[in-house]
Amino acid sequence: MFAVLGRTANHPVTEVAILADKNPDKQDFLAIDEWTYPELRTILDLAKAQKPLARAHKLPHTLPNRVLACVFAKPSLRTRVSFEVAMRQLGGQSMFITDKEIGMGVRESVHDVAKVMSRLCDGIMIRWFDDNEVRELARHATVPVINGLTDLTHPCQVMADILTVEEHLGTIEGKTVVMVGDGNNLANSWLNASIRFPFNFILACPEGYEPDAGIMDKAENAGASFMITHDPQEAVEGAHVIYGDAFYSMGQEDEAAKRRRDFAPFQINARLLEAAHPEHIVLHCLPAHRGEEITDEVMDGPHAVVFDEAENRLHAQRAILATLIR
Ligand code: CP
Ligand code: NVA
Repeated sequence: MFAVLGRTANHPVTEVAILADKNPDKQDFLAIDEWTYPELRTILDLAKAQKPLARAHKLPHTLPNRVLACVFAKPSLRTRVSFEVAMRQLGGQSMFITDKEIGMGVRESVHDVAKVMSRLCDGIMIRWFDDNEVRELARHATVPVINGLTDLTHPCQVMADILTVEEHLGTIEGKTVVMVGDGNNLANSWLNASIRFPFNFILACPEGYEPDAGIMDKAENAGASFMITHDPQEAVEGAHVIYGDAFYSMGQEDEAAKRRRDFAPFQINARLLEAAHPEHIVLHCLPAHRGEEITDEVMDGPHAVVFDEAENRLHAQRAILATLIR
């Protein structure tokens, strides 16, 4: 027996193509501040509720037959594996596609890629260089688009980070999160988060490595509590969360030597952490360059929660997928 199943069930087959081009209700996850606090709270609470079920392999399959396209223009361990596992845990499937294959913006336009993928998949997760191209993809796509890291932001990582902070410190409210290092995509996403969540954000970076000016302006206009300093020692004083990332990001490999010199005083090591709150936690989005931006002593020490953080990529992103994909 043949039947038209799912969303198209009540419509004649001839209407299906028209329906596929219209999805006024779809939402994207491109930046944390584009979601309201109650929405973000709901996502994090869902992640917390589902975590023990997922660990026990007892999650209900709420996204059966759905396929997430995972597009990568940069390498990945955590983002790829966590998104692909999350889809399987929800009863759906995922597909790994590289930039080289689809040639978005080169082999065919971003617009056409968006339209085609929207006909073939139920969601798109993309790791890309240019944030504007991801926004263009999202504008034209009729399925949800999720930012899996661009040069500008890495919102899914910071959602997992907030989940980790809440698990270890009870709440992020009133806590001071100090990132020591580059004013990069992670710093920008923490600034975006500080617009929505009630914590203080401090970035200690070398001069010339400040976060995106537009995002700093937005955070300032929103009344977020943040500070940029060039003194890591002063920054970590009393801090509840110390946050690390690489001195040079994917795509900046040719700046590595200069950055290693410029960032040398910004290493997260045991001496730096002496001034932090006695019960501070240390996060790092990973991959870590041990001995460079963070020492083994800290990475493997009693305050580090970096592998809880890596696991939480799965739980936070599964909640995002469950919220967005129809
Ligand atoms: N933290 C993070 O995004 O890791 P990957 O680059 O391995 O995905
Ligand atoms: N800032 C780093 C994060 C890696 C997860 C990068 O963009 O390469």
